[in-house]
Amino acid sequence: MQTDLWKGKTIVITGGSSGIGEALLESLSQVPCKLINLSRSEPELVRKISKKKEKRPAEIFHIQADLSSEKEINKAVAKLAKLTDGIDVLFNNAGITAHSRFDQTQIEAFRRAFDVNFFGPVFLTMRLLPFLKKNKGAVMVTSTVSGLYGIPARSAYSSSKSALHAVMESARIELSEEGLRFIIFCPPYTKTNLRSNGIDGDGQKLEEPHYSGKSKTPQEVAEKMIRSIEDPNSRLVVMDKSGLFVQWMRNISPSFLEKVLYKKLYKDFH
Ligand SMILES: NC(=O)c1ccc[n+]([C@@H]2O[C@H](COP(=O)([O-])OP(=O)(O)OC[C@H]3O[C@@H](n4cnc5c(N)ncnc54)[C@H](OP(=O)(O)O)[C@@H]3O)[C@@H](O)[C@H]2O)c1
Repeated sequence: MQTDLWKGKTIVITGGSSGIGEALLESLSQVPCKLINLSRSEPELVRKISKKKEKRPAEIFHIQADLSSEKEINKAVAKLAKLTDGIDVLFNNAGITAHSRFDQTQIEAFRRAFDVNFFGPVFLTMRLLPFLKKNKGAVMVTSTVSGLYGIPARSAYSSSKSALHAVMESARIELSEEGLRFIIFCPPYTKTNLRSNGIDGDGQKLEEPHYSGKSKTPQEVAEKMIRSIEDPNSRLVVMDKSGLFVQWMRNISPSFLEKVLYKKLYKDFH
């Protein structure tokens, strides 16, 4: 991390109570800056600081909000406006996964995935635009490699994330003249609670074990996200070969990509 670039900045993180967002909060808390977290539950770090069990150079605030609700986003923005009038970085990171075959997915599961992964970050970004414009800020969305192509057994998850890509791209082109930046970040599998917090095709709690293959730690992902904000040329960021493979193969040979996905994820949809 280039600490000097983050000193004195105002940074908003969504989903800092767990996984990748929690790792982001932890890393950035080491810098003297203002950190504002939005999630339903309070991050452990915030609890420890308020009980004086931890001390950090950053000022950290938690605003409780269910980001699938416009009403709650409006309330959260009103609270945030009491803490700052400018935002340098908005990490739209909160999200849920959804696993099921397309032909076994209820429309409610699509709605839930879109409420959290699409409408939440889109509406929050809209409401925070005046704050971002004031500081010529950067917006990063935590998407996924599954947002780069429709992945089997992930139609609701993939589509809710890839729809977000298009919004970020449109906004990037339009608002570049006001100095704003929009970055799409696609982590590969990461060791977090994503699956235990996910939904199945009926919109019910996902009953699946954690992914047991090769995966990144939330800390590795958070560090790369921070470095991607520091790089003025970041647009669409993937972290490893799995992301690069999907990103390039979708244009070079989609039929080959589909064969690979069919074979690799066969068990997920059978
Ligand atoms: N883990 C992976 O393999 C992986 C890979 C690629 C991309 N991602 C993406 O990374 C992001 C972070 O996920 P994670 O892996 O760190 O999972 P996680 O450990 O389950 O964390 C998800 C975070 O999102 C917040 N959240 C979920 N629903 C919310 C809601 N309705 N309102 C407010 N906050 C909500 C949760 O906070 P509360 O429950 O306290 O509200 C939590 O802090 C997600 O967008 C996910 O799609 C993850």
